[in-house]
Amino acid sequence: MNATKKKRKKSLNSSPSSASLSELDATQLPAHLAIIMDGNGRWAKKRLLNRIMGHERGSDTVRTIVRTCREIGIRYLTLYAFSTENWQRPKTEVEALMTLLKKFLKSEKSEMLQNDIRLRVIGQIHRLPSGVRKALEETMTATRDNSSMDLILALSYGGRAEIVDMVQAVADKARQGRIDPQAINAEMIADHLYTREIPDPDILIRTSGEMRISNFLLWQIAYSEIFITPTLWPDFNKDELVQILNDFQGRERRFGKV
Ligand code: FPP
Repeated sequence: MNATKKKRKKSLNSSPSSASLSELDATQLPAHLAIIMDGNGRWAKKRLLNRIMGHERGSDTVRTIVRTCREIGIRYLTLYAFSTENWQRPKTEVEALMTLLKKFLKSEKSEMLQNDIRLRVIGQIHRLPSGVRKALEETMTATRDNSSMDLILALSYGGRAEIVDMVQAVADKARQGRIDPQAINAEMIADHLYTREIPDPDILIRTSGEMRISNFLLWQIAYSEIFITPTLWPDFNKDELVQILNDFQGRERRFGKV
């Protein structure tokens, strides 16, 4: 990919902890950043800890990255926190992840309110335990008028399931005569996905080095810039995120054009 650049017109304020934050061009920030948070299990294994401790540390990284995105001015952040396939993990691990999620939602509610962050969720929410659904509802309701940043949690999420749900909704409307099948276009499809009203991700990051999409935002990442880092999710931090944003600003996005 071509890597020439149009750089650094307007700088963001830097903080002492992040040398390169000041090098970011505030006019060229991604509107939407999506992350496949991978490597919690390997992080724990390397330290002879159980996988759940990896998820706990991963949860701390979630806090750091949400704060960093808010500080930088990323408008939408989507985190792949639990996939439809993750239901097949051992019951104890699934339960631990659900408990962590509940804890996160409860402990972060006040910070989201304070920082004008709106919580949203995408996925098959009806499959989640009632305690998690309740915590989600409470935090989503409390934060629904916030408008500086949207934190979107992908929970019990699968890209194919999302497409199936979309096709069913569109087919249903066509059957009822509410839409003409000939009028179905990309915009209409996007309007029937879980992510309606959310712009497509500009950047997709995957931690832990795996070269896979793992059923994440299959429709929406058509033109996303992909960054795969070997860093395991619990070790991912502000500096590395800023470095990725810096690299993103050095990429030329052509959207299929010359
Ligand atoms: C992938 O690592 C990670 C997950 C399946 C869960 C992600 C969950 C968190 C980061 C913590 C809780 C989330 C929130 C929003 C508070 P893995 O277990 O597949 O790691 P491995 O590939 O090394 O085994």
